[in-house]
Amino acid sequence: MKYSLELAAATRPEWTQTVMSDFPAFLRDHADCERKASAMAMSFVAKYPDRTEIIPELIETGVEELEHFRQVYAHMAKRGIRLAREIAEDPYIKKLVDLCRTDPLHRFLDRLLLASIIECRGAERFRLVCNAIENDAELKEFYHHLWTSEAKHGNIFVKMALTYFDEGNVYPRLKELNEAEGRIVETLKLRPALH
Ligand SMILES: [Fe+2]
Ligand SMILES: [Fe+2]
Repeated sequence: MKYSLELAAATRPEWTQTVMSDFPAFLRDHADCERKASAMAMSFVAKYPDRTEIIPELIETGVEELEHFRQVYAHMAKRGIRLAREIAEDPYIKKLVDLCRTDPLHRFLDRLLLASIIECRGAERFRLVCNAIENDAELKEFYHHLWTSEAKHGNIFVKMALTYFDEGNVYPRLKELNEAEGRIVETLKLRPALH
């Protein structure tokens, strides 16, 4: 069952061209993103230890993201690509976090909904990468697998939100954040990176 909403703005073809023109750089950024996604899932566990209903799924998501990191790193190692030495701040994530409301309850909801949107954007972009890969069946298959896995995560975080908030609170806010994310994505400088 699908819980997430469609993204408000589709990624432009120029993004895919930028990524495909420097795939080693994209892989380095992608590995960082998976590691940070795992850390984000676990940060929910650390910040909201009393939300016991969602802890098992958060742990499972954290493990899956770490597994993605392991897999991306294996593709990198095979190609002689090192992990990035310095991890620059992700302007996309920073701008999204700025959208969170400040009172604890609404902040919790916004963080869950943004996590869903980040996962949906990842799914969309891995699908674009998958479709653009030629002459490497293994890598193409890998991005196909990731695209479906991130789409599943996109639904999980909305489902978690619905555990604590009713639909009338969740979906209008999700639509609002989706639209804001669409505007952010369009202002970002194109880089061979996930965002
Ligand atoms: Fe992932
Ligand atoms: Fe994910």
